[in-house]
Amino acid sequence: MKLNQLLAVTAAGVLTACSSNVTEVKSPDGTIKFNLDNTESGLTYTVSDSETVVVSPSRLGFVLADGEMLDKFDIKSTATSSHDETWETTWGESRFVRDNYNQLTVEMQQRGGDLLVNLEVRVFDDGFGYRYVFPEQQRDSLVVMEELTEFKLPAESQAWAMSAENAYLEGYFNKSSLAELDTIRTPVTIELPGKYLAIHEAALTDFPKMNLMRTDDVTLRSQLVPWSNGVAAYVATPFATPWRFMIIGDEPGDLVTSYLMLNLNEPCAIADASFCKPMKYLGVWWEMHLFKTYWYKCDRHGATTENVKRYIDFVAEHGIPGVLVEGWNKGWEGHWPANEHFSFTDPYDDYDIDELSRYAQEKGVELIMHHETGAWTKNYEAQLDTAYQYMNDHNIHNVKTGYVNLLMDGKEDHSSQYGVRHYRKVIETAAKYTSNIDNHEPVMPTGLQRTYPNLMTQEGVRGQEHSAWDQDGGNPPYHTVVMPFTRGLAGPMDFTFGTFNYDNPNSPHARVQTTLAKELALYVIIYSPMQMASDLPENYAAHLDAFQFIKDVPVDWDETVVPAAVIGDYVAIARKDRNSTDWYLGVATDEEARQLDIPLDFLDADAEYTAQIYADAPDADWQSNPTAYVITEQTVTAEDILPVKLAAGGGTAVRFIKK
Ligand code: NOJ
Ligand code: CA
Repeated sequence: MKLNQLLAVTAAGVLTACSSNVTEVKSPDGTIKFNLDNTESGLTYTVSDSETVVVSPSRLGFVLADGEMLDKFDIKSTATSSHDETWETTWGESRFVRDNYNQLTVEMQQRGGDLLVNLEVRVFDDGFGYRYVFPEQQRDSLVVMEELTEFKLPAESQAWAMSAENAYLEGYFNKSSLAELDTIRTPVTIELPGKYLAIHEAALTDFPKMNLMRTDDVTLRSQLVPWSNGVAAYVATPFATPWRFMIIGDEPGDLVTSYLMLNLNEPCAIADASFCKPMKYLGVWWEMHLFKTYWYKCDRHGATTENVKRYIDFVAEHGIPGVLVEGWNKGWEGHWPANEHFSFTDPYDDYDIDELSRYAQEKGVELIMHHETGAWTKNYEAQLDTAYQYMNDHNIHNVKTGYVNLLMDGKEDHSSQYGVRHYRKVIETAAKYTSNIDNHEPVMPTGLQRTYPNLMTQEGVRGQEHSAWDQDGGNPPYHTVVMPFTRGLAGPMDFTFGTFNYDNPNSPHARVQTTLAKELALYVIIYSPMQMASDLPENYAAHLDAFQFIKDVPVDWDETVVPAAVIGDYVAIARKDRNSTDWYLGVATDEEARQLDIPLDFLDADAEYTAQIYADAPDADWQSNPTAYVITEQTVTAEDILPVKLAAGGGTAVRFIKK
């Protein structure tokens, strides 16, 4: 795409009907129709695509303090506009993103009351979003108790959903009918015959997270995560809620390659975002999750000067930019989540941070800071400036933050407005200190990385650590072929794969349930601009030929395509490197061995590529023979179909080098 195509257009005239009280707006290609219907009993919206109704009349509105209802409205005016702009991402799955929609803005007043609220609707070719905007008005503050927004879905919907019960969003997404759902988190992905939908929210900056609660067998209603006093949100007008959105696609891959959520976030707010650099890293981390070493100071302390130098030496030798160090600061003794007073400037005395920052710099390596807060956010906020200045003083510009505790400050939910405000404050402070964040135990991401590209990646996923110690035995093979179509739709995941050694003597009940080749494929399949190679240096040294793929694989992409996928069974994702003409392909299966034929038509036509293929060996199997792989090379073109043979729990990773 050429830079001269980066243009914005705003024009009027997409409103197709405004007679009586029905209002309609269509997607630019005319296939998706969003209708508002304002009646005596309230305001509802309906959405259909070229084939069918995807959202049946669904309610909109709020309940405010003292039972005040904001669900019946008088429409004061309607206005439409169109927008077509292509913008460049700071980093991401696609270098350029087209933001093309028709907008309907409905100015409304509470029926029988004084409150003013507008509904802003944007309809894209791949879905729609809407938000409530409270303009400046006499009432300068509101207390929101409940949101009434509904999604009434087709009866045959099957939902891939995660129960809201899961701590830290570290649960499985399972498939069920809507009638079987608990209260769930978003994103939720809906399968229909020949159609895929995903519901989530965008630009969550000062509001609670929207969970969805089932009100009947086909209807999901917003359930805002409240403060401990029961209030959902304190709002000062003027104010806009996050966008509630739905992606509509024909295939699972359409959900993955939709950038609708990013389009609904504000443009980059960091004037010079050149410090927001994607990177790969190793870390003093997996060894602690395997209970080989410990976070606290003892004779098996992980974060010693000597051990960290070992990691620095290894990454420097292999051209990996970063080393994360956990357990460097005092306070990890005993049940550490109870530690309300972690210091972020006080290292253990066997961790010489001055020497290590000097050594890392000499070797061209970046140390990655770790701030485990135990979710004591007041303690963290009190130290934010000193902690980030301390990082700058040690030439550290990346930090992994963490919030292990079921409640923040013993009281508030991570997904409440309290939590959302805290995370936002950390992102903004980090930006001030030109620092990037890898946030663990987050609120579900909503695309804020467009505005703050220093919010590089987040956990909020049942990541690799569960396969080190979880009582359930570890993430089953199907988990990673569900993630791209569910949690992945919310943004980058710090999943931290890369296991090359499957022995787990200290937790024999658990293990990583993949083949080694699948671990490689995940670097392409599961997107993050910060990717960890989570295994120990000695385990990579034992398979340097396979480690080559981790060294080569980019973390920033020009373009992404999904050549094949059945959610929960298998997935193939191909991405083009942002900094070269190389393409990469990752293919993975669940517990079933299978053969797939992947068309290579994503490659440039009229060009030859050397395909370096990292595949499961014929006798590979995640349970009995995970480290059996074969590396082969062949010449391919865009005309070819690549046969890919996957072991049970297996995968294939391919680098395509243009000749
Ligand atoms: C939970 C994080 O997800 C994990 O990566 C980290 O090692 C521990 N907390 C300790 O902070
Ligand atoms: Ca975690």
